[in-house]
Amino acid sequence: MITDFQSWASQRQAAIEQFLEARLPGADCVPVRLHQAMRYSVLGGGKRVRPLLAFAAGELSRADDERVTIVAAAVELIHAYSLVHDDMPCMDNDVLRRGKPTCHVEFDEATALLTGDSLQTLAFELLAERQLSDDAGTQLAMIKQLAGASGSRGMAGGQAFDLDNVGKTLSLPELEFMHIHKTGALIRAAVMLGAYCSDVLDTAQLETLDHFAKCVGLAFQVVDDVLDAEASTATLGKTAGKDAENNKPTYVSILGIREARALAGKLQHDADQALHEFGEAANRLRQVTDFIITRKF
Ligand code: IPE
Ligand code: IPE
Ligand code: MG
Ligand code: MG
Ligand code: MG
Repeated sequence: MITDFQSWASQRQAAIEQFLEARLPGADCVPVRLHQAMRYSVLGGGKRVRPLLAFAAGELSRADDERVTIVAAAVELIHAYSLVHDDMPCMDNDVLRRGKPTCHVEFDEATALLTGDSLQTLAFELLAERQLSDDAGTQLAMIKQLAGASGSRGMAGGQAFDLDNVGKTLSLPELEFMHIHKTGALIRAAVMLGAYCSDVLDTAQLETLDHFAKCVGLAFQVVDDVLDAEASTATLGKTAGKDAENNKPTYVSILGIREARALAGKLQHDADQALHEFGEAANRLRQVTDFIITRKF
């Protein structure tokens, strides 16, 4: 089972890498510095968790691989943009990402800003240019879903809430609000966009899948908080202990490591329960969830 998951994941990670490599403008394409920075920030790193979720949801809905690759790449581009901006001095001020100097360190701040902007618009270009659904209305809904998940009511809003609350103690509902937005929204979009690439799931099944995705999205950030406190910089490929250093309210600062881990376990259980009605067809989603909870970086 594990070996099977590992080879499946490696194959999908390679497919997404190849697609992104082909779709990002070439490093010799003018303006060269911006295009180099875009490629630097996207290629050759990252776990590609969001694409894996999109592929697993696509497998559940028996969607066409080529379509799922496009939505998976679009979500990964938004994610990469969010990381480039998250690391900038005006946000978390980090110098290490995916084992390399962050974009603004390797290039400069203005280039990092434009890199994030350009990765974001490339994501929407991908979603708009090819047929992703047999129904044009569904494709428009997919574009809207990614826009909503990325903007002020999604990831960007969560990031604003994060920055507004540096040095403060949040209640658990406030912390959940922050995590569901800054990280959960995009994870949810990855799952739902994968599923929307086909029309075999009915409305009730899509709602069930959305509930699964919400649990996984929150669990993902709970684990990220735990790893920030527990793992080493070398393992993470990003600076460990950064949340405490930046005075961020996190599940670890509010609950402590043990309880935060227990919460991640409970969320995994809830996610698994949600998948019950899909039977074995949801095994890939279960495996990706397990990877998210048990990961070491
Ligand atoms: C890190 O995301 C940022 C968060 C949303 C917590 P990942 O842990 O998915 O980062 P990569 O893509 O693997 O580098
Ligand atoms: C970042 O959360 C979430 C987004 C980039 C949207 P963190 O600030 O915790 O991510 P890391 O730990 O720097 O990867
Ligand atoms: Mg941050
Ligand atoms: Mg950060
Ligand atoms: Mg973090």
